[in-house]
Amino acid sequence: MERNDPCWCGSGQKWKKCHYPVAGQTRNLAHQYKKQYGILLKTPEQIEGIRNSCKLAASILQATCKMAKAGVTTNELNDFADSLHRKASAIPAPLGYGEPPFPKSICTSLNEVICHGIPDDKPLVEGDIVNIDITCILNGYYGDCSAMVEIGNVSEEKHRVVEVSKECLRRSIEILKPGIFINEIGSIIEDYASQHGCSVVNQFVGHGVGIGFHEPPQVPHHYNNITIPLVEGMTFTIEPMINAGVREGIIDPVDRWTTRTVDGKPSGQWEHTILITKTGHEILTLL
Ligand code: MF3
Ligand code: CO
Ligand code: CO
Repeated sequence: MERNDPCWCGSGQKWKKCHYPVAGQTRNLAHQYKKQYGILLKTPEQIEGIRNSCKLAASILQATCKMAKAGVTTNELNDFADSLHRKASAIPAPLGYGEPPFPKSICTSLNEVICHGIPDDKPLVEGDIVNIDITCILNGYYGDCSAMVEIGNVSEEKHRVVEVSKECLRRSIEILKPGIFINEIGSIIEDYASQHGCSVVNQFVGHGVGIGFHEPPQVPHHYNNITIPLVEGMTFTIEPMINAGVREGIIDPVDRWTTRTVDGKPSGQWEHTILITKTGHEILTLL
């Protein structure tokens, strides 16, 4: 059969526009996901680029987390992470992102900060928990991941959100394979969090990532009714934000980024970028 012949499926379209094999899927499916959901299924070349970017993000995250100790400022963590991006010829995606433009190269979210904390000159102190979130752009491809660090001994409540958010991420990744619905992720996370006395933030979600910073689909961490089936070639994050108290957050009216829990109780978050494969998944932001 030639590319311009009518497709064998009887659609009346040319084979090349229909079930022509491309990118380990059929063009048909890639077209359908783009048209119906705005989701970009990635080609093998794009996956290779995203994989490289994710590996770099993971290695910068690991090195930056190692530096997070009492007495170190979040600005020092920012500058260290920024220099690692430059050394690898990568760009830190947060810098200048959004409106108002995010002013730093990484996010550092302490204690009651849910997400989007801005690095500053305050040193970390014993008893803090901090989320470090790295998104790099390497050769035009995005990789996004975050992790928590406990500074010395922390309260039982802080330790709980660190551990519960980590386990929520682990459990939700474990189920991923073609055919799973997006909303099964939120069910796993909210079930586990609520069984452990925590709430799930619904104001921010995971997201498609790879060609852009924040692509469709949204990936909620709470109960929801998004029944888009996962298919091979999807790349997206899961990044549950788990609170010791209520789920509601409030965005700082001055910097318009830093989001804190309304009740001042601690919040934890971990994030990976995931690829859906033919038979399951690959965690791209693992070293
Ligand atoms: N890295 C965050 C995420 O996981 C987004 C940060 S946006 C920024 O989606 F502008 F605050 F950097
Ligand atoms: Co993200
Ligand atoms: Co992130």
